[in-house]
Amino acid sequence: MESTVGKTISCKAAISWDATKPMTIETIEVAPPKAGEVRMKVSATGICRSDEFYRSGQEDRHPYPCILGHEGSGIVESVGDGVTSVAPGDHVISVFIPHCRKCKMCQNSKSNMCTENSSSRLIGLMPDGTSRFTCKGQTVHHTLSCSMFSEYTVICEINVAKIDKEAPLDKVCLLGCGVSTGYGAPLNNAKVEEGSTCAIWGIGAVGLAVIMGCKVAKASRIIAVDINPAKEKIAREFGATDFVNPKSLDTSTVQHLVAITDGGLDYTFECIGNVQTMREALESCHKGWGLSTVLGISNPKDDIKIMPFQLVTGRTWQGSLFGGWKGRDSVPGLVKEYMSGAIKLDEFISHKLSLDRINEGFDLMLSGKSVRSVIIM
Ligand SMILES: NC(=O)c1ccc[n+]([C@@H]2O[C@H](COP(=O)([O-])OP(=O)(O)OC[C@H]3O[C@@H](n4cnc5c(N)ncnc54)[C@H](O)[C@@H]3O)[C@@H](O)[C@H]2O)c1
Ligand SMILES: [Zn+2]
Ligand SMILES: [Zn+2]
Repeated sequence: MESTVGKTISCKAAISWDATKPMTIETIEVAPPKAGEVRMKVSATGICRSDEFYRSGQEDRHPYPCILGHEGSGIVESVGDGVTSVAPGDHVISVFIPHCRKCKMCQNSKSNMCTENSSSRLIGLMPDGTSRFTCKGQTVHHTLSCSMFSEYTVICEINVAKIDKEAPLDKVCLLGCGVSTGYGAPLNNAKVEEGSTCAIWGIGAVGLAVIMGCKVAKASRIIAVDINPAKEKIAREFGATDFVNPKSLDTSTVQHLVAITDGGLDYTFECIGNVQTMREALESCHKGWGLSTVLGISNPKDDIKIMPFQLVTGRTWQGSLFGGWKGRDSVPGLVKEYMSGAIKLDEFISHKLSLDRINEGFDLMLSGKSVRSVIIM
C-alpha cells in the first residue's frame, strides 16, 4: 500500500453540525500531524455521556461543526516533528486530559489537571490555533483534543498513552475515559478504606467502574442508586451489595440511606451530572468524616446548593476528573491490570456498532438501554 505519511488522508467521520441535528457520516480530509502531534488510525471508541454534553451544546463555548469521541484506541500512522514518545505502528489510547509532565499541575502529585493547550482545546483547535480537519471545504473542529468518531484523527503527543500491542483495542478504548474515571475516583481521590460503606449515584459505565474500585478497596457495603431498575442486575454483578431505586422509596433517598447505614455513608460518589443528586450524595454522608466525590458533569449554568452546616459538621465535598490518573503514566498500567484479569472491561460493553450507526449509539445511551456502546471503525 502506498505510504500516507506527509499526505492528507480522506476518510469517513461522524460530523456534529449543530445541537439540533443528528450527526452525519461524511468524507473528510485529515491533514498530516504538525510538530508535537500524532496522526492515528482509530480502531474503536466508546460513547460516553460527556459526548452528549458537547453534542447537545451544553458547553456553549465549543464550536460546531465538530468531531466528537474521546474514549478511543488506535494505531499511530505518522508523527510530527519532535515527537519522541510514540512512533508509527504503536498502539495507543487517547487521554482527554493531556499529560505534558512539565506544567505546574503535572509536577504536583495532588492533581492530574494538566493545563497545557487548555485555551486551544476549549475552542476545538490544535495548539497552533488551526484544525487538521476539513469537510466540503469547511473547517471542522476537534473536541476534547481527541475527535475519535473518525477513521483517522490528529491528536497531541501529550494526549496519547502508548500501550501493549497485545491488548484488544476494541476493549481497552474504554480506559480512555469512563472506566478509568470511575475506577480511579475511589482509589486515587476518595482513597476508600477497607471495611467502609460507599454509595454510588448513577450506574452507567462511570458508576459501575466506581463500584469496581470500591470493591478493590474492600469496602464492606456498596450501595448502587439508580432510577432505572434494569441497572440492579449489572450493579450487583460488579459488586454492589444493595440497590436503591429512589422512585420506589416512601421516604427521601437521603433519609433512606442514612437510616440503613447507621447515620450515613463513609464515601459517596455522584456519577450522573445532576445538581440535585450531588446534594443528596453529600447529605447522605456520615457527619464527622463522610466524603462525597462529584464525577458527573452538570450543565455549566447550574449551581449546587447545600446548607453550610452540612460541611461545618464534618462532611467533605470534592470532585474528580479522569479518576485522578495522570494519563500517559497510568493508562498503560490500567491496560496491564485488564490483561491480568484484575479489572473488567468486556462486561461494560453492551453494544458494538459501526460508525454509520453512531446516532443509534447515542439513542441507546439516552434511553438507558446501553451500558457502553463501542463504535468499531
Ligand atoms: N469526571 C470525569 O472525568 C468524567 C468522565 C466521564 C464521564 N463523566 C460524567 O459522568 C456522568 C456519568 O457518565 P456515564 O457515561 O456513566 O453516563 P450514563 O448516561 O451511562 O449513566 C448515567 C446513569 O445515571 C442514572 N440516572 C439519571 N438520573 C438519575 C437520578 N436522578 N437518580 C439516579 N440515577 C439517575 C441513569 O439511569 C444512568 O444509569 C456524566 O455526567 C458524564 O458526563 C465525568
Ligand atoms: Zn468521557
Ligand atoms: Zn501538564
